[in-house]
Amino acid sequence: MERTGLSASDRPVEVAVVGSTGSIGTQALDVVAAEPERFQVVALAARRSVEALATQAKALRPALVAVADEDMAKALEAAVPKGTEVLAGPAGLAEVARRGDVVLNAAVGFAGLPVTLAALEAGRRLALANKESLIAGGPVVQPARRTPGAEIVPVDSEHCALHQCLRAGGGPGEVARLVLTASGGPFRGRDPAELAAVGVAEALAHPTWRMGPKVTVDSSTLMNKGLEVIEAHELFGVDYDRIDVVVHPQSVVHSMVEFTDGATVAQLSRPDMRMPIGYALGYPRRLSHPFGALDWTVLERLDFERPDRGVFRCLALAEEAGRAGGLVPAWLNAGNEVAVAAFLEGRIAWGAIAEVVAETLSGFDSPPPGDVGDVIEADRRARARAEVAVAGRGGHR
Ligand SMILES: NC(=O)c1ccc[n+]([C@@H]2O[C@H](COP(=O)([O-])OP(=O)(O)OC[C@H]3O[C@@H](n4cnc5c(N)ncnc54)[C@H](OP(=O)(O)O)[C@@H]3O)[C@@H](O)[C@H]2O)c1
Repeated sequence: MERTGLSASDRPVEVAVVGSTGSIGTQALDVVAAEPERFQVVALAARRSVEALATQAKALRPALVAVADEDMAKALEAAVPKGTEVLAGPAGLAEVARRGDVVLNAAVGFAGLPVTLAALEAGRRLALANKESLIAGGPVVQPARRTPGAEIVPVDSEHCALHQCLRAGGGPGEVARLVLTASGGPFRGRDPAELAAVGVAEALAHPTWRMGPKVTVDSSTLMNKGLEVIEAHELFGVDYDRIDVVVHPQSVVHSMVEFTDGATVAQLSRPDMRMPIGYALGYPRRLSHPFGALDWTVLERLDFERPDRGVFRCLALAEEAGRAGGLVPAWLNAGNEVAVAAFLEGRIAWGAIAEVVAETLSGFDSPPPGDVGDVIEADRRARARAEVAVAGRGGHR
């Protein structure tokens, strides 16, 4: 606020979005469009979707746009309005992450780590969708959170729900456990024998959420829920013995906090990511637009069941990696990113994703990190190991 001399209520919240062309990024721009007097987009970034980024820049007139892929910068420069600064590569993305009052990190995968660090080190509020940066980079992200002014408000619907429950329900010493809900994905209840033959299209057919391909495959294996257990531990400092997962196919209860007196506070809303995105962008003030409002007359039932860690091995692998700590979650994340990419390219079967992750983790050899370079090196080593594991399962097609 000091930068302009205006108070928060005098001017719009300035928003920077990394990953603006993706599922979360475009929904964030919907939120901005729904409350134009409240938000102003000042910077946008993507990997290489030049056309989509240029269209966004023409409509929103941000001061800065950036692409991760350096080869795309020239094409972007030619396509954006005059006066819009264009940057490229990791330095360009980091500059976007230093702009505005709130930075939405909606990039996908480990590539989001420099964005998370740049935003926090610049003392920004970080609306965090890119869970991979916190999971792989926990040991270096935690110190960056202590920068004056830096704050993470989670966008992942489960963690956004926990944030709301904790805000409403009680103090940190009163939390008994966090309960993360999981839709169960497209393969909930399926016979394990059938799962050997499932293809990419089936894995991408999520029953309740429309998301980018990587997180959708993660939802089908329950790796997404495993990553979210680690994310909850990193965000809220609750130990793993007090973080549970329950399958809830309707995706209406987004997560719950049980307090020491046995009371459970839950957050319910429609499965619409614009609600948690708007919560994180507008925090601490809620949106006026009711993206999450439920129609209680059509909501017939809410079901809950245990996840099957025998069939969905990725959930158990992630929980073990989280408990091991250090850079083990970075190896888990890297192994999973390589395995999911290989599955989407038809190089391995769905069931091999967990095998590749397990084989990657079995080679873990990274000492505790001193700095971000150590995290990047751990990610590199784990990816190399995962590629060998993928090659050993080749010839899927
Ligand atoms: N989608 C959801 O509903 C949802 C829900 C909860 C959490 N999340 C999390 O949110 C994050 C984004 O997911 P998504 O579903 O929105 O993914 P997505 O649809 O695949 O979009 C990814 C976005 O990130 C950009 N990007 C990819 N690699 C990049 C890089 N190296 N540097 C900079 N930008 C890069 C893409 O740009 P290009 O278009 O140029 O490739 C695109 O704008 C993930 O961490 C995911 O787990 C998503």
